[in-house]
Amino acid sequence: MPTTLILGGSGKVALHLTRILTQPPYSQKVFSLIRSQDKVSQIRSLNAEPLVNSLEDLSASALADIIKSTSASTIVWAAGAGGKGGAERTRTVDRDAAIRAMDATAQAGVKRFIMVSAVDIRVRSKPAPEWYNDDDRAKSDQMWKALSAYCQAKLEADVELVKGNEKRGLVYTIVRPSTLSDEKGTGKVEAGKVHIGGPISREDVAAVVAACVVDEATGGCVFDVVPGEAGIEEAVRGVAVEKVHVFEGRY
Ligand SMILES: NC(=O)c1ccc[n+]([C@@H]2O[C@H](COP(=O)([O-])OP(=O)(O)OC[C@H]3O[C@@H](n4cnc5c(N)ncnc54)[C@H](OP(=O)(O)O)[C@@H]3O)[C@@H](O)[C@H]2O)c1
Repeated sequence: MPTTLILGGSGKVALHLTRILTQPPYSQKVFSLIRSQDKVSQIRSLNAEPLVNSLEDLSASALADIIKSTSASTIVWAAGAGGKGGAERTRTVDRDAAIRAMDATAQAGVKRFIMVSAVDIRVRSKPAPEWYNDDDRAKSDQMWKALSAYCQAKLEADVELVKGNEKRGLVYTIVRPSTLSDEKGTGKVEAGKVHIGGPISREDVAAVVAACVVDEATGGCVFDVVPGEAGIEEAVRGVAVEKVHVFEGRY
């Protein structure tokens, strides 16, 4: 049975993803690594298997053992400090623990790794994407000013996933949503080289990640996702066919 392990499984995107993956048409076995015992029953109610542990405390080899114990074929990083604990914890979770998760995935012999990152994560001293307009550049300035520790931690993790892949050999996909909202999903997005756009529903982001889980051709793709008009499967297929890599030349 196809099996996915979600890291940071009690998060809002992760809970949508758990529900989507455990139900038809996916009908996957899902393991969910969470740090609080309090969330165990919530994960079980979604027909997934909770594993209680903290990504901040686990060494790469201890996490590799957990990954092996699940027989997962896909690992999804959906964790994040969420701004709790200041810049230091942002670095510890969003950068350091994410990089250990990449190492652990490779050590466990699993190839598929999907990272939930964020739109506009890039080295800002390099030229902005050529498709950006004035509105994108203004949004980019705003985001990097307001969330600099977060953006830097995400950038360093993503750079490690892409550049460090020679040593790990992962089949990675980086999904980069705009600001997340708790609105109900629309089932419609725009994905690839897109304008930064407005907030996207977490439910839609989870559906995009689920589509990546089953579409291995999204391996090696790095793409932005914002609200749009295309059906999610079709949008993700387009990314896979075009081998979109918005990060190329920007890390
Ligand atoms: N917020 C945005 O607008 C935005 C935009 C683009 C991308 N993103 C990214 O999208 C992803 C998902 O976002 P979201 O809104 O679903 O986040 P969320 O609800 O804050 O979920 C993050 C999860 O990570 C878990 N976590 C934190 N530290 C952990 C640890 N040491 N061990 C295990 N789990 C740990 C948290 O657990 P607890 O519940 O126990 O704290 C939480 O459940 C994140 O990677 C975020 O950076 C966010």
